[in-house]
Amino acid sequence: MLEIKGLIKTFFPHTINEVKALRDIDLTIQEGSFTAIIGTNGSGKSTLLNAIAGTFIPDSGSILLAGQPITFWPEFQRAKLIGRVFQNPFAGTAAEMTIAENIVMAMRRGLSHPLSKAVTSKARAEIKERVSVLKMGLEDRLDNPIGTLSGGQRQALTLLMATWLKPKILLLDEHTAALDPKSAAKVAELTKYIVDKEKLTAMMVTHSMQQAVDLPDRIVMMHKGKIVADYQKEHKQRVRIPDLLATFDRVQKKELFDESVATLLREQYV
Ligand SMILES: Nc1ncnc2c1ncn2[C@@H]1O[C@H](COP(=O)(O)OP(=O)(O)OP(=O)(O)O)[C@@H](O)[C@H]1O
Ligand SMILES: [Mg+2]
Repeated sequence: MLEIKGLIKTFFPHTINEVKALRDIDLTIQEGSFTAIIGTNGSGKSTLLNAIAGTFIPDSGSILLAGQPITFWPEFQRAKLIGRVFQNPFAGTAAEMTIAENIVMAMRRGLSHPLSKAVTSKARAEIKERVSVLKMGLEDRLDNPIGTLSGGQRQALTLLMATWLKPKILLLDEHTAALDPKSAAKVAELTKYIVDKEKLTAMMVTHSMQQAVDLPDRIVMMHKGKIVADYQKEHKQRVRIPDLLATFDRVQKKELFDESVATLLREQYV
């Protein structure tokens, strides 16, 4: 479980460039749940994921992950508990290393002994089996440099690597946005499959309303550093794309009306 309380992050405070990226975020993510984070550009979605991953220490607030108070942990220490996939398919893997070598590095994440990319025959058998789950034929190309793969194939492997050690939480930041529609659909489908199969807890930032409706079991909407809507359980199951667009619209109108009132009107669909 992830428990976030009173999280605040302001970039360039007390300057003309001040940005209140997270404004008092309270959010509890249940173990085994899959949550989509949606919201307009600059609403604080990536900042929220970065705060969890430890890219920065928040100005105030607390983060509890799997019972551990990680608020002040450095990023590398949290990395043992967290799997991440970014938008860029070229991030997260080493292009000149083979598929098998990249995966071996992922398998050894968090171990204290010196890094070795040697692929033992035992590891190889496990890698072959797990890569075949992707159904991309990559299990027959384990010795190819990962840089020779397409963006979609690479992102599928990055997803597999990020989940290899069953992280306490999987953070996906628009991880299909840079892919062509077919590859994006394939990676989205794989995401759902892996999250369900491994019973992972996941948060996925997306601009795709279709993905938000199809994949997760909860949708959290952010706007200007705040959570403005939260669809869960049967409300999530019933919600459709036009409902989400209507909520976006309402949020923007409320904002014009009065920002403080907008806070009071946080829409809960629990
Ligand atoms: N490292 C940083 N330094 C300064 N400002 C930042 C930094 N990171 C984010 N911001 C600002 O904080 C706000 C929230 O940014 P964030 O990247 O979280 O938005 P987002 O919801 O992920 O948007 P998008 O959908 O465009 O990815 C923006 O105004 C952004 O410019
Ligand atoms: Mg972002």
